[in-house]
Amino acid sequence: MSPRKIIIDTDPGQDDAFAMLLALGSPELEVVAVTAIAGNVPVSKTERNARQILELAGRPDIRVAPGCTRPMVKPLKTAEYVHGDSGLEGWELPEPSTPALPVHGVDLIIDTVMAAPAGEITLCPLGPLTNIAMALIKEPRIAPRLREIVLMGGGYFEGGNTTPSAEFNIFVDPHAAHVVFTSGVPLTMVPIDCTYKAILTPAWLERLKAVGKRTALAAAGLAEFYQRYGNQKFGTDSYPLHDPCVIGYLLRPGIFGGRKCFVEIEITSPVTMGATVVDWWNVTKREPNCMVLRDLDNPAFYDLMLERIARLP
Ligand code: RIB
Ligand code: CA
Repeated sequence: MSPRKIIIDTDPGQDDAFAMLLALGSPELEVVAVTAIAGNVPVSKTERNARQILELAGRPDIRVAPGCTRPMVKPLKTAEYVHGDSGLEGWELPEPSTPALPVHGVDLIIDTVMAAPAGEITLCPLGPLTNIAMALIKEPRIAPRLREIVLMGGGYFEGGNTTPSAEFNIFVDPHAAHVVFTSGVPLTMVPIDCTYKAILTPAWLERLKAVGKRTALAAAGLAEFYQRYGNQKFGTDSYPLHDPCVIGYLLRPGIFGGRKCFVEIEITSPVTMGATVVDWWNVTKREPNCMVLRDLDNPAFYDLMLERIARLP
């Protein structure tokens, strides 16, 4: 069976790095392009971080392009308080040697989807949805050509991690999220309701270090930096990695659980701006537009992630 082709749209971010490494260590997937978005840190840093991660994994061949520098309407809000100034603190990675493509990430998404057979490409956004929304607006013909969008973002039962009602990726660009959630593209949302169960433990971190190869050691260093925020927030040495759940779902959908729901994005209230309002009990009787994940077999997920990262150089 030929590998599933994906475009990763990302704002590295230590957890984005784990998502990228999980994908790169998995032969079931082919990462055909990486687009960077402004989110955790400005796009000038996220695109550089993305190239560093690809080179760490021995994949300088994968095309990278920087995308939008800011959300569609709101000013950019970044998260250096979580990820550090570079966005990838925790391990000193070499200066990337392969340049980014001299194209815009939105155009790379459009050109890649339009050049591929219909239904072949899955988009995997791991940050604010600005690039995805702009691609859908600039070239609406990509919508029916996309196989699926599987995104990390949102929250419902857990509320929000950036405001009481909004998760970071959606909060940063709620208008882009509105475009994506009304696009009609088959959608799977991996919210913090699910990712809060993707708990990285100190014991797993030791297993990762024991792999002893450069990628595993670097990933462990990134995780340890990210852990200090987890300690502050959760008060424990065990804390969630959000973005790799997107890739884990593509690889092992059976270890996740959820249901199809109608989801809409709050884009007017100053109090709940960016909330993902999930009709979990179908009270509106509106046609579902999204598979919403909520459950995860955490040990199986982290066993998979360890085994796949261990395959990398
Ligand atoms: O809320 C978690 C999300 O925001 C993750 O994608 C993390 O990398 C940040 O982008
Ligand atoms: Ca991210």
